[in-house]
Amino acid sequence: MGNFILLNIEHLFLAFFIILIPCFFDGVICTDSESSSILPPLIPLPPLPPLVPLPPLPPLIPQLLNFADQRLALVYPIIMTFRNMIISDPLGITQTWVGSDICNYKGFYCDNPPDNKSATTLASIDFNGFQLSAPTLDGFIDQLPDLALFHANSNNFSGIVSPKIANLQYLYELDISNNNFSGPFPTAVLTMNSLSFLDIRYNSFTGSVPPQIFKQTLDVLFINNNNFIQKLPDNLGATRALYLTLANNRFTGPLPKSIGSASSSLKEVLLLNNLITGCIPYELGFLRDATLFDAGNNLLTGPLPCSLGCLDKMEELNFAGNLLYGKVPEVVCELGNLVNLSLSNNYFTSVGPICRQLIKNGVIDLRKNCIQHLADQRSVEECTLFFVNPRSCPDPSTFSLLPCKVPPKSKGHLVSDNAAFSKHRL
Ligand SMILES: *[C@@H]1O[C@H](CO)[C@@H](O)[C@H](O)[C@H]1NC(C)=O
Ligand SMILES: *[C@@H]1O[C@H](CO)[C@@H](O)[C@H](O)[C@H]1NC(C)=O
Ligand SMILES: *[C@@H]1O[C@H](CO)[C@@H](O)[C@H](O)[C@H]1NC(C)=O
Ligand SMILES: *[C@@H]1O[C@H](CO)[C@@H](O)[C@H](O)[C@H]1NC(C)=O
Repeated sequence: MGNFILLNIEHLFLAFFIILIPCFFDGVICTDSESSSILPPLIPLPPLPPLVPLPPLPPLIPQLLNFADQRLALVYPIIMTFRNMIISDPLGITQTWVGSDICNYKGFYCDNPPDNKSATTLASIDFNGFQLSAPTLDGFIDQLPDLALFHANSNNFSGIVSPKIANLQYLYELDISNNNFSGPFPTAVLTMNSLSFLDIRYNSFTGSVPPQIFKQTLDVLFINNNNFIQKLPDNLGATRALYLTLANNRFTGPLPKSIGSASSSLKEVLLLNNLITGCIPYELGFLRDATLFDAGNNLLTGPLPCSLGCLDKMEELNFAGNLLYGKVPEVVCELGNLVNLSLSNNYFTSVGPICRQLIKNGVIDLRKNCIQHLADQRSVEECTLFFVNPRSCPDPSTFSLLPCKVPPKSKGHLVSDNAAFSKHRL
């Protein structure tokens, strides 16, 4: 669009010469036809490039447009400035961003603001899948004071997230996933008390995640697939989120015991592909509402705590690709809603009859472990090498504790769609 504007100005300039200069000559110099002969021959202008029809330029004076509400007149120049910053719009979305009817621009939605039910304002923006490219959102969303939702999944917006978004008092959903943002975690969100949905996954954010984010009342915190590097904060379990995804970053350190405090809320937790170390805390067994827990491909070690046998809503449990060992607790295999227990690529050494049945059913994957007489295990050498070093966990007695009555087996389950791993939002 930058080049486009230049082209515009060039055209206007040429148009000026074509239209205005002959008039000038007509009116002042060429008053009588005889005198024209004494003028030097006109040098022909270079051929003009063919005029490509341009999209209408936004009017410079919005006052001339008739807006349904003063609030819309106020955001109009903000939208036009942003429109001029867009460098690629393969779907032609911005062609609809003309005139005073902002509420009918593609991606823009109006509503009555909470502070004045008779006013009409720009309340929500949904650019999901629009494939727009712009170097920044700075000066755009932070200047739309009544914005409650901003969804921009799968665009190509970059730059950092402006601290000024903290001014958006009504914003409760911010989704900038699958873009090209960089820089630190957008700490401005920490002061946004209305925010309940934060999705910044699939970007290039770096540095650490402020622990305060886990104290905020968010329902959804998706920060997977960035470049965050830090120890898992001790207060992780303070989160009241239902969906928590930290996967595909570089989180280190142990899974904090505080995870058990999130018991009344957490439904899905994705921690896979990080560098999480240490033994699995017994407190993980407190997540009674969790249906999905995925800590695959980390550096977890020690046995599986029996407390996991209390996760009676659990459907998918993944610890594949860690350094776990010991016996797979039979209570875990008795979980009634379990559809997928991935324990492959660990160092488990034994498995009981209930679990064996689930291996047959394809519910449990125990390939590449150290279980004698089971198919597709690690070599004796590999297993021996692993167990050369003595291994232990703190609080070994907690591994056999069961913080619940073993629930009756239930039938029927919903398989999670693992939404955080679809880059595109439906
Ligand atoms: C509410 O909005 C309407 C429509 O824009 C406006 O006429 C009215 O003055 C506003 N009321 C207040 C109290 O601001
Ligand atoms: C995304 O935007 C950057 C500049 O901000 C540009 O270099 C790149 O080509 C764009 N990518 C796509 C796929 O449009
Ligand atoms: C992200 O931005 C960089 C430059 O800022 C660009 O080179 C790259 O192509 C962009 N990525 C995508 C997926 O568009
Ligand atoms: C079970 O979970 C693992 C790890 O998430 C996954 O790779 C595998 O495809 C799943 N199996 C089935 C049958 O869904």
